[in-house]
Amino acid sequence: HSVGIVGAPFNRGQPRDGVESGPDLIRAAGLLQKLTQQGCAVKDYGNVTCDDVPADEPFGCVKNPRTVGRANEQLSHTVATVKREGKTCVVLGGDHSLAIGSIHGHASVQGQLGVVWVDAHADINTPLTTPTGNIHGQPMSYLIHELHSKVPVVPNFSWIKPCVSARDIVYIGLRDVDLGEHYILKHLGIKMFSITEVDRLGIAKVMEETCDHIFSQVQKPVHLSYDIDALDPTVCPATGTPVVGGLTYREGVYITEHICQTGLLSAVDMVEVNPKCGRTDHEVKSTVNAAVDLILGCFGRVREGSHPSDYCIS
Ligand code: ARG
Ligand code: MN
Ligand code: MN
Ligand code: MN
Repeated sequence: HSVGIVGAPFNRGQPRDGVESGPDLIRAAGLLQKLTQQGCAVKDYGNVTCDDVPADEPFGCVKNPRTVGRANEQLSHTVATVKREGKTCVVLGGDHSLAIGSIHGHASVQGQLGVVWVDAHADINTPLTTPTGNIHGQPMSYLIHELHSKVPVVPNFSWIKPCVSARDIVYIGLRDVDLGEHYILKHLGIKMFSITEVDRLGIAKVMEETCDHIFSQVQKPVHLSYDIDALDPTVCPATGTPVVGGLTYREGVYITEHICQTGLLSAVDMVEVNPKCGRTDHEVKSTVNAAVDLILGCFGRVREGSHPSDYCIS
């Protein structure tokens, strides 16, 4: 695998400090060395700048629109560069508003994508349905063709062209969905495996059906957008909006192993790691280590172990 790492220390898509340290913490936990050890060629593109735009007044109830819009425009260009250089792009967050720039930049180079969104939340509120005004609860609404007429143009968002079709999205792990979001999911017929379906079917069946759905007409590059709050807060407590009853560590890793096996993984977001939301050093470490392991699973790490093809014991 040839991998490009991009840090996106975005924190204005939600109200809590700390999530901006995610990229450097995940790097400090040895991500690049571990990817290299498992045979990947890794290039670090550094962090995208995301300076605050002064006097960034709310647009309706949408908070920090200009700051989030501009940062995502930069990220979109960076992700497009990584994809043009032929690498699988890993974007380290930062809050989940970064999916706007990440998916947009990815689609600008690759065209039609399949999006697998692993999260406790659907993050599909529009600027009009959002109960909080936080843009990390809205990224999908700006990207879906079918919602275009329902989404007003937010300041610094005019560069965004919708680039994902409702039928090319699969959600996994949902358990905290707002009513407007639930209406949108049902109205557009978006495929979702809530945590209830994970309980009913088991994660292996969920992943089989996820790939059947994404690849039903044509093979296409996959964008995996992974919110660390999809995992249970006992494993990943250091995140801004934890929700009880989440995926186990094993289910979380299984998702990455299965997507890796398709050979079509083209970009990954790993978002919402917030050390300031951990109560102890152990809570922060557990969350960061899970984020690293999920990324390693995306690039060929298997839990049974492995050995090089020329390995010999005598
Ligand atoms: N649905 C809520 C909202 O719109 C929570 C979103 C949480 N999103 C996240 N990326 N953690 O604000
Ligand atoms: Mn531009
Ligand atoms: Mn979430
Ligand atoms: Mn999210």
